[in-house]
Amino acid sequence: MGVGGVATVALSLLSAPAAALGTPPPGGPCAGHAARHDRIASVLDRRAEVHARRGHLATARAYRRRARWQVELAHYYGEQARRHPLPRGAAVAYRTLRRSTALRRSFLMGFEQLTPENEMKMERLQPAPGVFRFREADWIVRFARKYCKRIRGHTLVYGRQLPRWASDGRFDAARLGFEMEWHVRSVMDRYRGRVGEWDVVNEAIAADGEYTRNVWFRALGKSYVERAFRAAHDADPGAALFYNDSGIELPNHPHTVAVRAMIADLRRRGVPVHGVGIQNHVSTTHNASEAALAKTIRKFTKLGVTVAITEMDVKLDSPGAPARRLERQRLVYRAAARACRRNPRCTSFSTWGVGDRVSWLGPAAQGLLFDFGYQRKPAYSAVSHSFGSPPGRETSQDEPGRPLGAPRL
Ligand code: XIL
Repeated sequence: MGVGGVATVALSLLSAPAAALGTPPPGGPCAGHAARHDRIASVLDRRAEVHARRGHLATARAYRRRARWQVELAHYYGEQARRHPLPRGAAVAYRTLRRSTALRRSFLMGFEQLTPENEMKMERLQPAPGVFRFREADWIVRFARKYCKRIRGHTLVYGRQLPRWASDGRFDAARLGFEMEWHVRSVMDRYRGRVGEWDVVNEAIAADGEYTRNVWFRALGKSYVERAFRAAHDADPGAALFYNDSGIELPNHPHTVAVRAMIADLRRRGVPVHGVGIQNHVSTTHNASEAALAKTIRKFTKLGVTVAITEMDVKLDSPGAPARRLERQRLVYRAAARACRRNPRCTSFSTWGVGDRVSWLGPAAQGLLFDFGYQRKPAYSAVSHSFGSPPGRETSQDEPGRPLGAPRL
């Protein structure tokens, strides 16, 4: 081998493969899915023909319906590959995802990212010390990967939805600290390379700006936050690690100020926290304006972290005719989507659920982007103007699509 050969080898060692760097392949990470669903559609169409020829008309019709759905999916993925939009996300629960075709379809065509609503919380994953139950979380992860949806892992360390063993006082502080880190490591280890983004710590600060007096804080003081992030980074150095909280939409609210101070302090000390999730559970009467939310996002990104809108819903609590209330809701969603969209370090936009039929707030709240019958609400297009690419819609000139790549850290 001559000198040229040596140089080639050295260079190829220096430049890691595109996949390892998180660079999406040409056409985006979901390139190939359009063709895949087109192929499935042709197979189904052929079966429909065979059944029609034999006189099995009902079966033929069923195959044709399924083929049409596959064509729609192919179109959706085609648009994704063409436009590389920033992802829209939604929280979904295992049970509804399995039971409801309507929910699955709305999700698959309306969102590019999935957050398991409860299936990755500690009470579900580790019901007894050392006893892990990954079945439902595994199923969701497989489902998301099958359809090329990104996954936000939610949530490793939280003061709520804890198993009894963590909250009944049986363990002293030292043991609880050990168990917390062990949980973080075990879960992240299982999903390494498949879940790229985690809410490592959820809701550690209360509305008054003080630390939430949860079981972790009572045992370990505020150091638990740092320990959780360090354990998470150790377990998967490639994952984007988020702190996630609600009530932090307004830039000068004591809650927001305290979260900012915590993040600044953690980063100053080299703790690997890469992102802040703003939950954004709001209503048509109580919400942050575009300017206020944009300012909040900017103040966080100035600390060197990315931001994501992680759990938005907009409860209808204003009076008036239904159309008027839905219009107000559209404006609240649009303001948040724009605030995120205009900051290049605000990287995804998620709602806490898909449609009003299944929401943690109950159907009366009507807080989501799809209605009770899984029809798109006015707010849907307001969000999709900035995120995702719904079939048949173009983004306007001033809101061009941006590449969907690895999280910018
Ligand atoms: C909620 C779920 O949606 C409910 O099903 C569950 O009963 C309680 O938790 N902030 C969060 C989420 O970070 O984990 C919460 O999810 C909603 C508020």
